[in-house]
Amino acid sequence: MAKLIDGKAIAAEVREQVKRDVERLERKGITPGLAVIIVGDDPASRTYVNNKKKACEQAGIYSEEYALPANTTQDELLKLVEKLNQKSDIDGILVQLPLPSGLDEHEVIRAIHPGKDVDAFHAENVGKIMIGKFQFLPCTPAGVMELLHHENISISGKHCVVIGRSNIVGKPMAMLLLHEHATVTICHSRTENLKEICKQADILVAAVGKAKFVTADMVKENAVVIDVGMNRDEDGKLCGDVDFKQVEPKASYITPVPGGVGPMTIAMLLKNTITAAKYQAGMEE
Ligand code: GUN
Repeated sequence: MAKLIDGKAIAAEVREQVKRDVERLERKGITPGLAVIIVGDDPASRTYVNNKKKACEQAGIYSEEYALPANTTQDELLKLVEKLNQKSDIDGILVQLPLPSGLDEHEVIRAIHPGKDVDAFHAENVGKIMIGKFQFLPCTPAGVMELLHHENISISGKHCVVIGRSNIVGKPMAMLLLHEHATVTICHSRTENLKEICKQADILVAAVGKAKFVTADMVKENAVVIDVGMNRDEDGKLCGDVDFKQVEPKASYITPVPGGVGPMTIAMLLKNTITAAKYQAGMEE
């Protein structure tokens, strides 16, 4: 039977630390501030944004929400980002993705000041991650690393297989594992022999976006299985990319959905907002 990695509890520890950091900054007259932009009315995005705002409040981080209609123009969105770049009480800017069709996500991300880019999506921050000299780490991959560290799971020399090659999760996830000396394979929708490759993984990270995609026959005995997915199953119940019931008996460690990687993403966003506030205040990390 696998050990369950309790992301909710580990995230709570990170959030307590963030709270103490906020108090320390407050004593110096600094209140970290996060601006969250959401465009359109995607229900999943709305839930994520609500959770992010609530987490800020609990940590003592000031937050502003900008909820724009789906017919917002590229120009209006860029102007808002520019305004927030200049706003002195805002340290971090987050544009919830995906944006409605017709808006150019890449141009919007490029408009965010790299020092306020708490998602670490800007090319400058992506490049810094690539060379290992970063200020911010992308929240979900950083959250996964935190879970692995918390459980003292050894990464160096291990074969890590990441399923998914998105800019938000798959690609940066692979890079962070590589920084810690793993041998990394990235798989995706066109990978041949996917099952065989996954079966070689000591650590398997599923970031596919398909309910119960990873089945027991794709998992090596005693593998560590990290599930980044957040899907609905045929009964409308929240589930991950991993068929938990099938895979759990084979794994040595596994993250549940919900309560695994999800809470970590938000905790790491708070951490990045603290980093941004220190940077804006001219303090060294
Ligand atoms: N959409 C899905 N995940 C994320 C994330 O981590 N940040 C933003 N901004 N949008 C997302």
